[in-house]
Amino acid sequence: MTNPGKFITLEGVDGAGKSTHLAFIADRLRAQGHEVVVTREPGGTPLGETLRELLLHRDMDADTELLLMFAARQAHLAECIQPALARGAWVVSDRFTDASYAYQCGGRGIPVERVAALEAWVQRGFAPDLTLLFDVTPDVAEARRSAARTADRFEREADSFFGRVRQAYLDRARAEPQRMRVLDAGKSIAALQTEIAGLLDRLA
Ligand code: TYD
Repeated sequence: MTNPGKFITLEGVDGAGKSTHLAFIADRLRAQGHEVVVTREPGGTPLGETLRELLLHRDMDADTELLLMFAARQAHLAECIQPALARGAWVVSDRFTDASYAYQCGGRGIPVERVAALEAWVQRGFAPDLTLLFDVTPDVAEARRSAARTADRFEREADSFFGRVRQAYLDRARAEPQRMRVLDAGKSIAALQTEIAGLLDRLA
């Protein structure tokens, strides 16, 4: 029987620079002979990408936002992530459920129990094998965001919002230090890649 693949997720506030490292991770895993599926949340399926458009550009209340995130996640798990892992592929996702705790709980103030209930329903104990948290100070993230293209609903939030999102991410990393590794995203790309390579090798 094929060994199931590993599930790796990348997290961080908008502007932390995680997208830069996604290609590095996928290339490295492919060079080691793995089938690699690169995906993202919200998104990752045709339905999920439609929900992403709404989530990023349509005004809505915080609970609607949370429920749509998990509707997209349910489809993503059922149609993409779990079938890929079952056939032995490694899946690398730009964001997953830690983002719901960080943005919807930390950022928007939704009680943690609501996200925990949805997580239990949709994931039934399933979780990433490794989560890389790209951590930067709010001023660096803000500078990177303003250099980027037109801001979406999240990217237009105030610095205080991103301060709360960052703190919620760090709290989660402290609670699950084995799964969730904090990387100082203020470091050079080369230094980060060395660190990431070490973490990936330990997972193989
Ligand atoms: P992101 O994937 O970082 O896109 P880009 O790099 O193209 O801007 O952005 C998706 C946004 O969705 C990001 O601002 C965080 C937000 N988000 C949540 O609020 N909750 C979630 O559960 C997820 C997965 C994302």
